[in-house]
Amino acid sequence: MNPRARFLAALRGEAVDRPPVWLMRQAGRYLPQYREVRRQHGFWEVCRQPELSTLVAREPLERLSLDAAIVFSDILTVPEAMGLGVTFGPGEGPRLVNTLSTAADLSAWTVDGVAQRLSFVSEAVRHLRTTLEDRYGILGFAGAPFTLFAYATEGGGSDDFAKARIMLHQQPWLAQKALGILADVAAEYLAAQADAGADCVQLFDTWGGLLDAEDYARFCVPALRRITQPLAARGVPVLLFVRGGAHLLPVLADTGAHGFSLDWRVDWREARARFPRSILQGNVDPILLMAGADVARDRVRHLLATMLETSQYRRCIVNLGHGIHKDTDPDAVHAFCDEVTRHG
Ligand code: CP3
Repeated sequence: MNPRARFLAALRGEAVDRPPVWLMRQAGRYLPQYREVRRQHGFWEVCRQPELSTLVAREPLERLSLDAAIVFSDILTVPEAMGLGVTFGPGEGPRLVNTLSTAADLSAWTVDGVAQRLSFVSEAVRHLRTTLEDRYGILGFAGAPFTLFAYATEGGGSDDFAKARIMLHQQPWLAQKALGILADVAAEYLAAQADAGADCVQLFDTWGGLLDAEDYARFCVPALRRITQPLAARGVPVLLFVRGGAHLLPVLADTGAHGFSLDWRVDWREARARFPRSILQGNVDPILLMAGADVARDRVRHLLATMLETSQYRRCIVNLGHGIHKDTDPDAVHAFCDEVTRHG
């Protein structure tokens, strides 16, 4: 089966020879060629030049047996395009200059013209689609509203994103307004990526798992529905990844997502029992790729056996439970993908 045909069949719930595979953060610092490109170009420069973005998005396809590419970009394109001033310092996480703490901060967000300022991402998708033709699936992506809100309030990475969680309860109207704006921008942004050639889109809610189910249902689910509803109307499948979201499975059904990318701590069988008709993606612990190629192969065999038994391989996509860690040996990643192809 052609990789894109396999990926599309999985998204439609059709029978496949084996589940398709792609990996979160498959293009990134664990690859020597990526690091070489970054020695010569800034991060935003790579994202903004379609040739460079396509080059790094294709690197993993050339060395690994993958069924889909993810456009090379970042979730923080959206706050950057709204004037929050996002930089990536060497060896550290992202920094945002204009943080959100008051209604005046929110009024300063430049929402007008944001789609135009983000058009370089759909141009990157278009260039990738032209280059890959119909050989591979392509995913577009965006940050989920809460995760972007968390970066906007904190001004950078954090273990607990306390400022975001405090704002939800101290200024709930402000938080809800911010989440609504981020959702509407994401909906338009993802639709543009689909129009440019993405077969499906993924929402990354990297920090959503910090919330309890009640707060997730109150603040995140309505914002997520503002994204999934217009995309569903256009026939674009939306996958939702919530890191650390095992306790949120009961409320995720209400998000309207077409499928769920499972964190490594989620029990696959439990998720399948809860979502018999949804796409499920995941969910090997990415850290275990650092235990070497044999462990990587073993984890794939275990996952595929579960996928076969619970789902006859239907509506399943092999992936990790979070992104590849930068210190991972590319040979272990190769072994992981190769093992998937042995099960066709
Ligand atoms: O193959 C791919 O997945 C590449 C595209 C991609 C990047 N970021 C490139 C990137 C994707 C899908 C993302 C998503 C992303 N970005 C998330 C959600 C996924 C997750 O890991 O939870 C988050 C939280 C971010 C925010 C972000 N961007 C951080 C925290 C950092 C710095 C440290 C890190 O984790 O790498 C970035 C920068 C970034 N985005 C890099 C890459 C390859 C490294 C930048 C560099 O080259 O120095």
